[in-house]
Amino acid sequence: MKKKLTFLGIETSCDETAAAIVQENSNSTANVLSNIVSSQIKEHKKFGGVVPEIAARSHIENIDFIIEKALQKSKKKIKDLDGIAATAGPGLVVCLHVGFNIGKSIAAFGNKLFFPINHLEGHALSPSIENKISFPYLLLLVSGGHSQYLIVNGVNNYKQIGTTIDDAVGEAFDKTAKILNLGYPGGPNIEKFSKLGRKDSFILPQPIINRAGCNLSLAGLKTDVLRKSKNLKSNKERYNLAASFQETVNKILKKKTEVAMKQFKNEITNKSLKYFVVAGGVAANETIRKGLKEVSLKMNFKPIFPSREFCGDNAAMIAWAGIQRCKKKLFNKKNETVKSRWPLDIKAPFLKGPGLKF
Ligand code: KG4
Ligand code: ZN
Repeated sequence: MKKKLTFLGIETSCDETAAAIVQENSNSTANVLSNIVSSQIKEHKKFGGVVPEIAARSHIENIDFIIEKALQKSKKKIKDLDGIAATAGPGLVVCLHVGFNIGKSIAAFGNKLFFPINHLEGHALSPSIENKISFPYLLLLVSGGHSQYLIVNGVNNYKQIGTTIDDAVGEAFDKTAKILNLGYPGGPNIEKFSKLGRKDSFILPQPIINRAGCNLSLAGLKTDVLRKSKNLKSNKERYNLAASFQETVNKILKKKTEVAMKQFKNEITNKSLKYFVVAGGVAANETIRKGLKEVSLKMNFKPIFPSREFCGDNAAMIAWAGIQRCKKKLFNKKNETVKSRWPLDIKAPFLKGPGLKF
């Protein structure tokens, strides 16, 4: 019988210190033996956002304990592992260094293969942890730092068909929560307080909604929330504005997803069962999930959402990406190091900054 690969994954790109032990299953899915995530929410809460130096110090304090815990829970020892995968970017460089260096050291001392992983590839491949799913598929990656539509042709083979030209969707949630004083982290709090408000009470802008293909723009929406927030007279109105913001994002994502699905259908003509995968922290949002399921039904796509534990940042997706790269023999170049910016599709145009025209 062929040996099943077992990997340690390490993730420290932002404010979560995470380690996981993952083993491949025979049906192209993963057996997550342990998935330990230590969130730094409490440490950053008083600043209303992630402070890189505090995040890096916290990773340094916790990482060895978290790795130890992941090994203990999985009942594996370093000698049982086939490889070690650590996030190498994109993210905060001071934070990335912590997980990357410890991963590289464990690999060197344990004589194991080492895989530097693109965090976005971790999210992109995360749906197949739990689902048997075939390439190519359409991916919407919506996190705190990124919002992209990608055609995932295979491991290491991504085509970006749309991206945000300003704020990422999670970033818009976080900034809006800050404007409305709803606490940190923004996404889950907007979702919580939206339940107390009416989603149709404010009409908010949907920038570039009928142009620019499936590219997204959210900065104007956030600015309008800021403007309207100055005239709020009660908590009820605050919740109404939160609910209207969430609903507007929902409408934007529904419309742009429909455009992305049309493009996918035009480009991938030989696939009858079409998968639409949503990954990243924002994929945890129930309203957005419901909206995207409706579009999938309309456009004849099968929607897939990773479980909550694999939506946000975690190390299981990093270990899983490492296993898949190993199977494809995509080995590390010796001089590889961490990088703050690392697009999945290096040919994609950089769509940020002044002077953009569609
Ligand atoms: O993927 P992730 O954990 O980290 C990054 O790679 O950025 O995503 C974090 C982002 C944050 O902006 C957070 O506010 C957002 O995901 N988020 C949500 C929800 N849960 C997390 N946004 C909307 N609704 C949620 N329930
Ligand atoms: Zn992420």
